[in-house]
Amino acid sequence: MTRRSFSQMSLAQMIAAGSVMAQGRVPPQIPKAMAAMRDAIAKAESDPARPVYHFHPPAQWNNDPNGTIFYRGWHHLFYQVNPYGATWGHMHWGHARSRDLVNWEHLPIALWPSEEQGEEHVFSGAAMPAADGRPRIFYTSIGKREPEQWMALPLDDDLIAWEKYAGNPVLSQKIHGEQNVFEWRDPFLFQDGGKTYMVCGGNHDASRSGGGATVELYEAVKPDLTAWKYRGTVFEYRESEVFNIECPNLFRLGSKWVLLISPHRSTEYFVGSLDLERARFRPETHGTLDPGASYASNISRAPDGRTLLWLWGKTDTKPAMGWNGCMAMPRVLSIDGSGFLRQAPAAEFATLRGEPRSLGGVALSDSPVSIGDGDCAEIEATLSVGAANAVGLRIGGKTEILFDAKDGVITAGRARKRIGVMLPLRLRVFIDRRVIEVFTGDGRAAIFTTSDGADRRIEAFARGGTARIEECRVWPMKAARMSLDRFTV
Ligand code: FRU
Repeated sequence: MTRRSFSQMSLAQMIAAGSVMAQGRVPPQIPKAMAAMRDAIAKAESDPARPVYHFHPPAQWNNDPNGTIFYRGWHHLFYQVNPYGATWGHMHWGHARSRDLVNWEHLPIALWPSEEQGEEHVFSGAAMPAADGRPRIFYTSIGKREPEQWMALPLDDDLIAWEKYAGNPVLSQKIHGEQNVFEWRDPFLFQDGGKTYMVCGGNHDASRSGGGATVELYEAVKPDLTAWKYRGTVFEYRESEVFNIECPNLFRLGSKWVLLISPHRSTEYFVGSLDLERARFRPETHGTLDPGASYASNISRAPDGRTLLWLWGKTDTKPAMGWNGCMAMPRVLSIDGSGFLRQAPAAEFATLRGEPRSLGGVALSDSPVSIGDGDCAEIEATLSVGAANAVGLRIGGKTEILFDAKDGVITAGRARKRIGVMLPLRLRVFIDRRVIEVFTGDGRAAIFTTSDGADRRIEAFARGGTARIEECRVWPMKAARMSLDRFTV
């Protein structure tokens, strides 16, 4: 076999051959950061509370999903990671890819802070193909200066190695002219009518006293996405308790436009219309995306047309455990007949189901009835409330998922959401060790929460009268594959 020159090899092959380092194309920050992550793996893996089918980095702190994109047969997920600890700091972009949204290959860290250019953190952002079909990453560069929006280019088709654009920053504060935009960050890109747009979150009020949070709109004026013009404030949130908007996502869903915002409390959505001529988003409906412990959304499109929602799941894990945070299961978004958003877990997770235990026609009262046993399970239950006030599930002897049939409110852990009185109650619950995700009300409520449960009990109960399990299936769930084979440079 003839030896191919490096110029004939893809970067992925060069990385595999260990040659990219030798050529100095992988910045030393990457292997250093990955070694720090590797060092924490054993500790993280030993924690019995760590989820096994919710995506998580090899180890250490994890927050927002970034740059979610389907490209050349793979769902790519980048994410905020602190390679040096299980608390927030030193933000890098971790990277993984999946064929099926369930099983993952961890890939080398994609983006690192360029200290030599005064960069301290690589904050959240997005990926979008330029006119040449190859994705670009846009993210917020943080240093001892105003935030800037920087671009990175892939060096290979697997999106494994990235280089930062030599002309960074691509967008700086001066793009806004007279208008000051504070807390300016988290670019998200979308395309419409052959043009590429970006939104960033911010606020117009330096005092941070609230009420002036904004989403700003930009339009690419070059096909390689290196030049942009400011189109104005596409959305202003005159809500007194919201200081600034993080991680705005603006995208088309069916015949509507959806705006997601993370306003330092639960992520919210607006469904409405977008007037790109006047740079105005006009909300028609509004709701909480997930009242639980999730935040900082991102969006991707699956090749079959599904719009996928990605969310950071906060696990509040003690730093000594060597990990903290994961992703919520990717959710499929749709809009219902009344114009509100609905969410369903990606159907692919059914591949992790084992043999179900089925039961039905079981009376429920105050004393809990066992419906299963395990710390990794999916539950699908139809519950009639009968004469009871409330009906629910108890996980691990402690954490309750409760439906108050008088108020039509579902609570899961500390999170609550009104879904209306929809009877019988249909619940889908995913238990993944410490993590619980609940879907109910035909997708009107989706809640990411964590369990304090101390054991493997899965029980059902009623309050204030007798209720009934009409039907219930409990599947043990297998662990997803999260391979470390390619977590190497
Ligand atoms: C949201 C956020 C973003 C920021 C990133 C930093 O959780 O605060 O606004 O880009 O996290 O890690």
